Amino acid sequence: MARFTLPRDIYYGVGSLSELKNLKGKKAIIVTGGHSMKASGFLDKTEQYLKEAGLEVTIFDGVEPDPSIETVMRGAERMREFQPDWIVSIGGGSPIDAAKAMWVFYEYPNAKFDDLITPFNFPKLRTKAKFLAIPSTSGTATEVTAFSVITDYAKGIKYPLADFEITPDVAIVDPEIVRSLPKKQVAYTGMDALTHAIESYVGTVATPFTECLSLKAIQMVNTYLLDSFNNPDGRGREEMHYAQCLAGMAFSNALLGITHSMAHKTGAVFSTGHIPHGCANAMYLPHVIEYNSNNKVALERYAQIAQALGIQGHDAHEQVQGLINRIHELNTLLGIPHSMKEFGVDEKEFYEKLPQFAHDAVLDACTGTNPNPIDDKKMAELFEHCYFNKPYKF
Ligand SMILES: NC(=O)c1ccc[n+]([C@@H]2O[C@H](COP(=O)([O-])OP(=O)(O)OC[C@H]3O[C@@H](n4cnc5c(N)ncnc54)[C@H](O)[C@@H]3O)[C@@H](O)[C@H]2O)c1
Ligand SMILES: [Fe+2]
Repeated sequence: MARFTLPRDIYYGVGSLSELKNLKGKKAIIVTGGHSMKASGFLDKTEQYLKEAGLEVTIFDGVEPDPSIETVMRGAERMREFQPDWIVSIGGGSPIDAAKAMWVFYEYPNAKFDDLITPFNFPKLRTKAKFLAIPSTSGTATEVTAFSVITDYAKGIKYPLADFEITPDVAIVDPEIVRSLPKKQVAYTGMDALTHAIESYVGTVATPFTECLSLKAIQMVNTYLLDSFNNPDGRGREEMHYAQCLAGMAFSNALLGITHSMAHKTGAVFSTGHIPHGCANAMYLPHVIEYNSNNKVALERYAQIAQALGIQGHDAHEQVQGLINRIHELNTLLGIPHSMKEFGVDEKEFYEKLPQFAHDAVLDACTGTNPNPIDDKKMAELFEHCYFNKPYKF
């Protein structure tokens, strides 16, 4: 048996934030980040709409990027004091993910963070509150996913928590909220969304329920990402907000592949600086497609993606090459480096650390659903191709 889980309601479109006026409940806690939602006025609007719905409202703000366990525990404490029946989270992936984890410790004060690390091991939620998410970035799709990423800074480990219990009840996907996103973030998160869609389509647990979402998201990113990047007030920005959400609906149910394994394990290992998640995915994706295409089934799946994008070619190989070329082209037009070397990773440090991060990437949770098996040696080779932007023969 397979399972396919999404929020009960997804409100979307310009002005859909006002749907908050119709929320039925008594008390809502708004969980948000540092400044962006306050500065753009959307935090005030959220509070106002909830009050119009007759709810008593409190705000927990200041959730930092890549939220910590400590922030989660502080937020849960506030929730226990206030006793909300709605948790309303507005912001990027960071505050929404933090709010998801707070929810668990609000309902189960004695739960242990370590127990949540095991996938699909969460206690039953919704005994005290329901969850509504309003994304202000266009990439993580946490408003529709079963995931939350929390960092244990003492151990230096980022934990991806996973359970359908934390799939939100309601998502509001209002494109007006992402008009203020900086260009670089549009580029990185847009390529992250494309990677979500492609990896969920070719992965080993894709189903007819997820394939249609993945393919549509891929087509939309291909059509609208550049416009979103160049024109904050245009249609592309709006369509990308929906595309990333569709991709999230797919990958929450069909999981990901080794592009994500590699990005997870190289984000914070180099002294030359953090590689943003979407930027890492964008650099690695063409080489992962080349590597995976040595597997016949995967080759055919990538060819289907190319066909859906109208990419010409006499056979699957040519079509997949066309898809790879298109990803390189997008990276060029979005100002994303084509290799780890171009990003600025030092070559000596790359080789020193390669055996460890290649090993860690093989062990990453996303490797299990990749369509072509991989071991440490092949992973290290693949990373070399990503370092030099050297095509991988398939
Ligand atoms: N839960 C999931 O399914 C999932 C998936 C992928 C990644 N993640 C996690 O999500 C986090 C990253 O989330 P993110 O990329 O959305 O960024 P974020 O929430 O960390 O925000 C990044 C920055 O963008 C600013 N910002 C947010 N919205 C803005 C807007 N509309 N206008 C201007 N500035 C704005 C924020 O203030 C912040 O400084 C990471 O912790 C990552 O590991 C979660
Ligand atoms: Fe991602």
